[in-house]
Amino acid sequence: KMTVKDVDLKGKKIIMRVDFNVPQDKKTGAITDDTRIKAAIPTIDYILKNNPKKLILMTHLGRPDGQVKETLRLDPVAQRLQELIKTPVRKLNDCVGPEIAKAIDASPEKVILLENLRFHAEEEENDPAFAKQLASLADTYVNDAFGTAHRAHASTEGVAHDLPAVAGFLLDKEIEYLGKSLEQPDKPFAVILGGAKVSDKIGVIENLLTKAQVLVIGGGMAYTFLKAQGIAIGNSKLEKDKIDLAKETLQKAKKAGVKVILPVDHLVVDNIDTPTKIETTKDAAIPDGMIAVDIGPKSIALFCDTLKSAKTICWNGPLGIFENDKYAKGTKEVATFITTLKAKTIIGGGDTASAVAKFGLESKMTHISTGGGASLEFMEGKVLPGIAALKDKQ
Ligand code: 3PG
Repeated sequence: KMTVKDVDLKGKKIIMRVDFNVPQDKKTGAITDDTRIKAAIPTIDYILKNNPKKLILMTHLGRPDGQVKETLRLDPVAQRLQELIKTPVRKLNDCVGPEIAKAIDASPEKVILLENLRFHAEEEENDPAFAKQLASLADTYVNDAFGTAHRAHASTEGVAHDLPAVAGFLLDKEIEYLGKSLEQPDKPFAVILGGAKVSDKIGVIENLLTKAQVLVIGGGMAYTFLKAQGIAIGNSKLEKDKIDLAKETLQKAKKAGVKVILPVDHLVVDNIDTPTKIETTKDAAIPDGMIAVDIGPKSIALFCDTLKSAKTICWNGPLGIFENDKYAKGTKEVATFITTLKAKTIIGGGDTASAVAKFGLESKMTHISTGGGASLEFMEGKVLPGIAALKDKQ
């Protein structure tokens, strides 16, 4: 295992891929959550302490699809980074080319942030020539972008072939926590899955059937599972074309001896945005015309009771529409409950991480992943190209 600790940094130009793909306010462009920037700081601080010639940071922001988009420039990110590391950051207006190479060498600031990599289509195409251009800017490559490790792009995969390449502390920590929890979990190992779509989580379920003892399912995806069991779901979210898959999954789980826990009651509304009726159902069935937006109190009790003996809990996907305070109770209570257990609690990134942050429970979880899609693919047992490229070097 090679990390930034295993390479010589002194006097070297270090290029580091980070995932500063942070959420922004649509109107003002202000960064609304800087967790991902903060998460890279231990590696940044470590590198700077070791006196490199330059630390060149690179990231994507959003999906500009190979075009320069003014709203997706990295200036606000550079600003925030500078505040957080208390060190001046020189932000450049492109990421490759002779001018950029010159600007790096001429920069009085040690820390440099290149412009959004995805302004060049070659980044997502993993174009070898583009990767070489990035590589030519530095002596050593560090990958600390766990959130983008599931993408085989020039800055996450390609460049690792052209330079000495090692992991940063964040990438290393993510692999450690997610990997351990899946490979050698303290048992019982319980998995909580939620979020809108069955199709997003089916790969995770397949992979975990051989590892977990309990699967707790809530959120939008639960209704397709309930429907598969012949339970009425009113106007709740349904993936019609996934009913058979849900049935099969339930059968497979049974065969594998994995307990599957679904909601036994719900919070339902007549309209999600402007409800005139908000009710709790008496059982798992959802009345005609009503839409489930959260798990109900009996489900909260059942989920907590199921989870109380777990030694490892992995959670990916909220249990209701937690962004709306009225529909956040299920996600909040279950999240709060698991922090009281002696279990290892591993939170997948994306929405689940936002939910945990919203409830102020971050410091009480064992690990919160900075990867949304990446943590999901990791839980699916997939090889992440950004990690594989580093392993190939060793
Ligand atoms: C993420 O936010 O999941 C990563 O930064 C990857 O972004 P992408 O889904 O646009 O590739």
